[in-house]
Amino acid sequence: MQILAGILSLFLLAFISISGASLAHNKNDFLECLTLQFQSFNSDSDSIHTPKNASYLSIFQSTIWNLRAASNSGQKPVIIITPYYASQIQAAIYCSKKHGIQLKVRSGGHDYEGLSYISQTPFFIVDMRNLRSISIDTKKNTAWVQTGATLGELYYTISQHSKTLAFTAGVCPTVGVGGHFSGGGYGMMSRKHGIAADHIIDAKLIDAKGKILDRESMGEDLFWAIRGGGGTSFGIVVAFKVKLIVIPETVTFFNVTRTLEQNATQLVHRWQYVADKIDDNLLLRLFLRSFNSSNGKRTIGAFFTSLYLGRVDDLLPIMQQKFPELGLVKEDCTEMPWIESTLFFAGLQGESLDVLLSRTQVSTAYSKGKSDYVTQPIPEHGLKSIWKFLEDEDENRVELQFSPYGGRINDFSESEIPFPHRSGNIFMIHYAVGWAESAESPRHINWIRRLYSFMARFVSKSPRAAYLNYRDLDIGMNNIKGNTSYRQASVWGFKYFKNNFRRLVNVKKKVDPTNFFRNEQSILPM
Ligand SMILES: Cc1cc2nc3c(=O)[nH]c(=O)nc-3n(C[C@H](O)[C@H](O)[C@H](O)COP(=O)(O)OP(=O)(O)OC[C@H]3O[C@@H](n4cnc5c(N)ncnc54)[C@H](O)[C@@H]3O)c2cc1C
Ligand SMILES: *[C@@H]1O[C@H](CO)[C@@H](O)[C@H](O)[C@H]1NC(C)=O
Ligand SMILES: *[C@@H]1O[C@H](CO)[C@@H](O)[C@H](O)[C@H]1NC(C)=O
Ligand SMILES: *[C@@H]1O[C@H](CO)[C@@H](O)[C@H](O)[C@H]1NC(C)=O
Ligand SMILES: *[C@@H]1O[C@H](CO)[C@@H](O)[C@H](O)[C@H]1NC(C)=O
Ligand SMILES: *[C@@H]1O[C@H](CO)[C@@H](O)[C@H](O)[C@H]1NC(C)=O
Repeated sequence: MQILAGILSLFLLAFISISGASLAHNKNDFLECLTLQFQSFNSDSDSIHTPKNASYLSIFQSTIWNLRAASNSGQKPVIIITPYYASQIQAAIYCSKKHGIQLKVRSGGHDYEGLSYISQTPFFIVDMRNLRSISIDTKKNTAWVQTGATLGELYYTISQHSKTLAFTAGVCPTVGVGGHFSGGGYGMMSRKHGIAADHIIDAKLIDAKGKILDRESMGEDLFWAIRGGGGTSFGIVVAFKVKLIVIPETVTFFNVTRTLEQNATQLVHRWQYVADKIDDNLLLRLFLRSFNSSNGKRTIGAFFTSLYLGRVDDLLPIMQQKFPELGLVKEDCTEMPWIESTLFFAGLQGESLDVLLSRTQVSTAYSKGKSDYVTQPIPEHGLKSIWKFLEDEDENRVELQFSPYGGRINDFSESEIPFPHRSGNIFMIHYAVGWAESAESPRHINWIRRLYSFMARFVSKSPRAAYLNYRDLDIGMNNIKGNTSYRQASVWGFKYFKNNFRRLVNVKKKVDPTNFFRNEQSILPM
């Protein structure tokens, strides 16, 4: 998603205003309830932010990643709370039930549809930013990570303890642990080490009754559900315990560009036969954009952005044998410690490591994303049609990411955890369009929907699978008023979870039969 960060500038925050949404009488009762509860255990009200507090707006905005979602919403949160203790979350659950104000939980705020910070009904936000401690055990190679931590904080903290320990998760350092781990978590080491959710070994969760549970007390069904089924439907995850991974001290980064004039079409075509099968230590991610090349001519750029868990001298023979067409040479490659490579993938090369600790990525863009899984190589003529779509939009406004699967991801069965995207997938497609002009932009939204509809012939079918962490409300949502049928919810439920959807519904019935924890795409107790 570098494109969105790169092309757009910072003038839009003014558009987010606190609209004069009608304040129902129970909002005051709700505030009173919270204040009393907090006082009862001597925690003062500095973690309660109402629209009258100056802190409210800055906290609300500081981790809004998608301005489109923010501006679509009719409602702003009645209150934001920023708990330091689990007891404050328990109080929030109690008061939420008592006064009928919906609870939404936000960790990093990177939800594609803004479901952690918008709602169609009166709601408040439990913002996890102050619950972000990370403790690393270098003897057992494990870490307890509170969900308000970001990926950048986690990566940085691990690197301060060891040169050979790491974690396998996404590339953007401001993504939150809470949403990311509970929804999957794919990154540059996923072919060797799987996804973040594969490594969760314990958790602390507060359920709809306000009980604090760990793996043992929650039971294996609920513990299964929060590893890829999305946290939202089942409770508030306060912390995850994860198994860290062991990596070499030196890794190799490269990012080579090939344009149409440099046979990009043939290379991308060929890549599909290589990327999921090549050495697991190598993840060849592919970004595709249309741009003006140096001679001023519009072309397609294929950026092979890659990480090899090892040294360049071991990488080159692998590429020579398996993908000689790319013509990778030593000069394209840079060796570095893993932690430094995280800066490169985040587009932060050259910065000092503590940039990973910077939490606020103030959003500057309206965006829309979608996802697909590819199980059969797309023929060259198909790729050429995709290029036409890319050329239809302004240069650098749209981007496709092809993320290879295979390797360790396939070592688990589809039902091991709710994340079902295992063997059979060559790669995942991420579609993105971003703009800065105004919230309403049918042209851009239509572009991505047209492309998605065109792509149906090339991607997985029955269900046409999608990745939960690239949340997309186009594939369906719960009714805001009235009940949603199982049939209706199955449409997106099976795309995200395949057959695991059934078990998720059963877990939900057991742990939250009154549907306290809910959002526009949450699992319902049907
Ligand atoms: C710039 C960018 C880059 C990305 N890169 C990657 C990538 O490389 N790989 C990848 O796999 N994904 C990536 N994603 C997608 C990302 O994994 C998801 O958007 C993820 O859900 C974000 O988590 P969050 O905590 O930041 O979001 P939030 O918006 O805070 O939360 C997302 C959802 O999880 C719920 N939730 C949050 N915290 C908790 C909690 N503690 N307990 C229960 N429920 C909770 C929220 O209510 C919401 O429904 C990227 C997204 C963006 C915007
Ligand atoms: C918000 O305002 C109220 C009332 O003035 C005050 O008691 C409370 O401490 C303020 N909260 C914060 C976080 O500053
Ligand atoms: C592109 O492919 C053709 C035919 O295979 C080959 O002759 C040519 O050298 C390639 N061009 C580049 C820039 O690699
Ligand atoms: C790219 O090329 C198009 C068409 O030639 C032109 O209109 C546009 O201004 C160019 N963009 C840049 C940034 O040069
Ligand atoms: C890869 O190269 C392209 C083209 O120069 C650039 O736009 C992109 O940001 C680079 N990606 C990384 C991760 O360095
Ligand atoms: C929704 O479902 C509940 C529980 O099955 C039922 O009691 C209620 O009447 C339903 N509401 C509507 C509007 O159908």
